[in-house]
Amino acid sequence: MKKAIISGITGQDGSYLAELLLSKGYEVHGIMRRISSFASGRIDHLITSNPNIHIHYGDLTDALATAGLISDIKPDEFYNIGAMSQVKVSFEVPEYTLQTNAVGVLNVLEAIRKFSPQTKFYQASSSEMFGVPGVPAPYNENTPMMPQSPYGVAKLAAYHLTRQYRDGYGLFATTGILFNHESPRRGGTFVTKKITKAVARIKNGTQDSLVLGNLDAKRDWGWSPEFVEAIYLIMQQEKPDVFVVATGETHTIKEFVEEAFSYVGLNSEDYVKIDDKYKRPNEVPLLLGDPSKIKKLGWEPKMKFNEIVHAMMDYDLEHFNDNT
Ligand code: NAP
Ligand code: GDD
Repeated sequence: MKKAIISGITGQDGSYLAELLLSKGYEVHGIMRRISSFASGRIDHLITSNPNIHIHYGDLTDALATAGLISDIKPDEFYNIGAMSQVKVSFEVPEYTLQTNAVGVLNVLEAIRKFSPQTKFYQASSSEMFGVPGVPAPYNENTPMMPQSPYGVAKLAAYHLTRQYRDGYGLFATTGILFNHESPRRGGTFVTKKITKAVARIKNGTQDSLVLGNLDAKRDWGWSPEFVEAIYLIMQQEKPDVFVVATGETHTIKEFVEEAFSYVGLNSEDYVKIDDKYKRPNEVPLLLGDPSKIKKLGWEPKMKFNEIVHAMMDYDLEHFNDNT
C-alpha cells in the first residue's frame, strides 16, 4: 500500500486529493492545524468511513514537527497543498504568508532531503506568480514571472526552492502551476464562492446585496476535482517537471456575477455594490493559461465556465444557510 502525506488536507484541494488517493488504495496521512473550532468539515466523511486516513496535528511553519512526521512515515509521496492561500489577506499578513508559503516549503524539502530522500514531493505553485505587465497571454511554463502580491512572491520563492532541490540534490521535486479552480468546497472569502453564496441568500431573502471589489479582473477558472487529478498525474511521471494546469479560457469577475444572478432569474445590477476595501494594492489583471503540456499527458479540463457557476449555485441554493 502506497503512503502519502497531504499538507492542507482540510482545504478545498486537499479534501478532493484525499478522496482521490484513498480511491486508489493509498494510506493517506493528513496534516491538520489545531484551531479553536472544528477544522475537518471537508474531510469528516472520510475520517468516519475510511480506516486508511490518518490525521496528524501540525503546521508547515513548525520545522521539527514536519521533519518528525516525514522521518516517521517515510511516505512515497508528499503533496504540499497547505498554504495561506488568500491573496488579498497576504497584503495584511505578509510575514506570516512568507513563513508558511516559502519557509514552510523549505522545511518540507529539507526534511525530505535529510530523512526520506526517496519521497516524491509535489509543490502547489500558482498562476499568481505571473504578472509581468504587457506579456501576452496565454501563459505557459516558459512565461516570465513577476508576482504582484506577497502571496505570489512567497509562491515564487517556493517554486525556485523546489527547482533547486530537484537540480541540486536530485530529489523528485515536481510542481504544477495551477490557475484558479473552484468547487462547492471553495472557501467563502474567494470571489466565486462569495458570489454564489450571496446570490443563493439573496434569492432566498436572507441577504440584500453583494459587495465586491474589482469586477474587471479576468481569471481562468477550472474545476477543483479535475485539477487534483492533474496533480496526481504530475506526481506519477517518471521525472519531476513543471506543468501549467488551466482551462485555456478566461472570464471577468463581472461575467461570473452575471451568470450566477441570471441562473436564478435575477438582475445583478439590482444587487451588486462596489467597495474599495475589497480591492488590492496591486494585482494581476488577466490570468489565462496554456495547458498544452499537461494535455500531452492525457489530462483534459471538462467542466466549462457556465457549468462551474451552475454547480456552485446548485450547491449553495441547497445550503444557503450553512456557515461555510
Ligand atoms: P484552501 O482551501 O485555502 O486550503 C489551504 C489549506 O492549507 C488548508 O487545509 C489550510 O488549513 C492549510 N494551511 C494553511 N496554513 C497552514 C500552515 N501554516 N500549516 C499547514 N497547513 C496550513 O486552498 P486551496 O484552494 O485548496 O489551494 C490548495 C493549494 O493550492 C494552496 O497551496 C494554494 O495556494 C494553491 N493554489 C490554489 C489555487 C486555487 O485556485 N484553488 C490555484 C493555484 C494554487 P486550515 O483549514 O486550517 O486553514
Ligand atoms: N476575494 C475577493 N473578494 N476577490 C474579489 C472581490 C471580493 O470581494 N471582488 C473582486 N475580486 C477579484 C479579485 O480582485 C481578483 O482579481 C479575483 O476577484 C479573484 O479573487 P480570488 O477569488 O480571491 O482569487 P485570486 O485570483 O486572488 O487567487 C486564487 O487563485 C490563485 C491562482 O491564480 C487563490 O485560490 C490563490 O490561492 C491561487 O493561487
